[in-house]
Amino acid sequence: MARAPKDLVLEHARLVAEIAAHDIAYHEQDAPTISDADYDALRRQLLAIEETYPSLADASSPSRKVGAAPSGRFAKVQHRVPMLSLGNAFSSEDVEEFVGRIRRFLNLGESVPVALTAEPKIDGLSISLRYEKGVLVEGATRGDGAEGENVTANVRTVNDVPHRLKGDVPAVFEVRGEIYMSHSDFAALNLKQEQAGEKIFANPRNAAAGSLRQQDATITAARPLKFFAYAWGEAPMLPAATQWDVVQGFKIWGLPVNPLMRLCSTTAELLEHYRLVEGQRASLGYDIDGVVYKVNEIALQQRLGFVSRSPRWAIAHKFSAEQASTVLEAIDIQVGRTGALTPVARLHPVTVGGVVVSNATLHNEDEIARKDIRVGDTVVVQRAGDVIPQIVSVLLDKRPVASEPYVFPHVCPVCGSHAEREERSSGKADAIRRCTGGLICSAQRKERLKHFVSRLAFDIDGLGDRIIDEFHDEGLISQPQDIFTLESRLGDALVEREGWGESSARNLYAAINARRSIAMDRFIFALGIRHVGETTARVLARAYGSVERLRDAASASAPGNEAWKELISHDGIGEIVAEAITQFFGELHNIEVVNALLDQVTPQAMAAVASASPVSGKTVVFTGALERMTRDEAKAMAERLGAKVAGSVSKKTDLLVAGPGAGSKLKEAEKHGVEVIDEAEWFRRVGEN
Ligand code: IVH
Repeated sequence: MARAPKDLVLEHARLVAEIAAHDIAYHEQDAPTISDADYDALRRQLLAIEETYPSLADASSPSRKVGAAPSGRFAKVQHRVPMLSLGNAFSSEDVEEFVGRIRRFLNLGESVPVALTAEPKIDGLSISLRYEKGVLVEGATRGDGAEGENVTANVRTVNDVPHRLKGDVPAVFEVRGEIYMSHSDFAALNLKQEQAGEKIFANPRNAAAGSLRQQDATITAARPLKFFAYAWGEAPMLPAATQWDVVQGFKIWGLPVNPLMRLCSTTAELLEHYRLVEGQRASLGYDIDGVVYKVNEIALQQRLGFVSRSPRWAIAHKFSAEQASTVLEAIDIQVGRTGALTPVARLHPVTVGGVVVSNATLHNEDEIARKDIRVGDTVVVQRAGDVIPQIVSVLLDKRPVASEPYVFPHVCPVCGSHAEREERSSGKADAIRRCTGGLICSAQRKERLKHFVSRLAFDIDGLGDRIIDEFHDEGLISQPQDIFTLESRLGDALVEREGWGESSARNLYAAINARRSIAMDRFIFALGIRHVGETTARVLARAYGSVERLRDAASASAPGNEAWKELISHDGIGEIVAEAITQFFGELHNIEVVNALLDQVTPQAMAAVASASPVSGKTVVFTGALERMTRDEAKAMAERLGAKVAGSVSKKTDLLVAGPGAGSKLKEAEKHGVEVIDEAEWFRRVGEN
C-alpha cells in the first residue's frame, strides 16, 4: 500500500483531533457543539481517508473507538459483551450495498431471502440492564463500549424499567436499549430549569443523559425518563432464534418495545419501512435519527460478527440532515389572540429532514435584530424536535448588496392601531409588541373565537379556522356567545350555503348543542384570559366553584385588596396572572360576554380534590422558613389534600404552619385564636412523614 501523501496525513490528524473534541463535548459534557449530521460527515471523511490508507487507522483513531471513556464520577462497569456502535447508511444505495455485503459474506445467492428487522433509531443514550433470576441487579451506560458507568440506582428510578421481569426468564440476561426523553417532557423540564435558574438542555438526548448521570438518584427520579429495549448483551440462554422473536419476548417480560419495529424480507421492504417511519418522525413525540436494520436470524448474526466498532449484521439508515439553507422571501406579521405581533418568515420552499418547509418562526423583533435577519437573505433553517422550523443563522456572504435591516412595524398590520411593548415590572420592555386595538382588531377577535372552539376549550367540531374566518367576516359570529345562537338565527339557511349540506349543518348544530353543558375549567380556559392556560383554569375552577363566583371575585379585585389577596393565594397564580385576570374581568365588554355565555351554557363544577384528609376543607396559611419543602410545594401539597391555601391570616384561617422567622402572621394568628403548628407537626398530621 502506498504511503499516504502529507496533506492527507495532516487532514487525517486534523479530523482525529476534531472528532475527539466533539466526542468529549457529547459524551462527557452532554453538550455537543455540532449537529449529528455534521459529526457524521466528519467521520465519513475520516473513514474515506482510512479506507485508502489503512495504516492511518491506528488504535488512536476515533474509527476504532466507540464514544468516549467514562467521565470518572461513577463506579466503572466492565461490559461482559462490548456495547458497540452501528455503521451508517445515508442513501438507499448504501442500504443495498449493506445487504449485498451480507450476501457476499455469507455466500448467499441473489434468490436466497435474508430477513431483516427494521426499527426506529432512538436518539437517546444506550443502557445495559443486567437481570439475574429476573431481578434488575445492574444498570450501566455504554461509556467507551468496553467500560461504562454504573448507574444502577439511577435506572431503578425510571418507570419504564422493570425491577423484576415477568414470566419465564433466563438466569442471566442483559437487556440493552435506549433511555430517552419525550418532546413534551423535555420542554416542561427546560421550563422548570429556566425558572429555577438551572442549566437549560440543548436537546432531549442531552437532557436524558444529564438526567441519568446524576450522582443523586433522587434528581433522576424527578426527571421523566423513558426506555425502549431493542438488543441484549450477555445472554447465555436466548429465548428465541431470531431478533424479532427475542424482542417480542421482551414484551412478555414487561419491557417496553418500540411499536414501529417490522420484519422485512427484501431491501425494498426495508426502504418502504424507512419512509413510513420518516413520515411519522415529526409526530412521534420523541427524537429518532434513523432506522436500524438487523439481520433477523441470530445464527447468521453470529456468523457475520463485527468489524472494528460495529456489527456486520446491522446498520443505521440515518435521516437526512434537519438543516437546510434557503432564501427568506418576506417577513409577515401575524396578530394573535392577545394582540401579540408575531413575525413569520416566508421562505422559498426547501426540504428539511424530509419535510417541505416554507414558513419559520422568527420569535420576536429582538431576535430579528440580534441575528440581523433581512428580507432577501439566504438563511439556515432547522426543523427542531418540536416541529416548528426555526432560522438558525444568516449566510452573510450571500447577502444581496442592497439589503436593508428589517424594521419591525409599530402599528398593527390588521387594524392599524398603535402596537407597543409593555414595560415589565423589572423596568425592561416586554419582548413582544402588541396591538392595542383589543376587540376593535378583527384579527384578535377571530383568534379569540378560534381559541374558544379549540380542542382544550369548547372543542367544537365543524368550526375550523376557515369557517370561523368566514362566519366572522360575514358578521354571523363575532363573539363567542354568537356560536350558541347560530342555529336560531340561521336555521336551515346553513344547509343552502356553499360547501354545506343537510348532514354537515346538522352535525355542526349538534356539536354546538353538545357543549351547552361544559366542565368549568374548559369554560374558563376558553375565555382566553392572558396567562390563563389549562392548569390555571383548573385552579380557578376548583378554587371558586362557579363561574359567577370567579366573575364577582375577580371584578372586585384590585392590587392589594382582599379579593386580590385571595386570587394570589392559589397555587400557580402569581401577580402577573392575577393582574391579567383582574384586568379581564375589569372590562365591561368581557363581563357581557361571560354573562351572555352563562345564558346559553351551564358550566359544571369540578369534582372535589380530596375527601378525607385531616386538612381537607381547612384554610391553611404557611409562613416563615420551611425546611422540607418550598412554598410552592407546600401549597400544592395542601391543595392536593383538599385544603385551601391563603396568603394572609384572618378569622377564617383554620391553621397556620409557621417556620423559623415567622413574624406578623404569627401575631395575627394569635389575635384570631388560629391554631399554629410547625412544619414537622404538619407532616405528622397529613401522614406524609
Ligand atoms: S442496536 C450491536 N437498535 O444507536 C448493535 N441501537 O449507533 C447495538 N440505538 O449505541 C445497537 N436505537 O445507543 C440499536 N433500535 C436500535 C437503536 C440503537 C438507538 C443507538 C444505540 C447504539 C447506537 C449505535
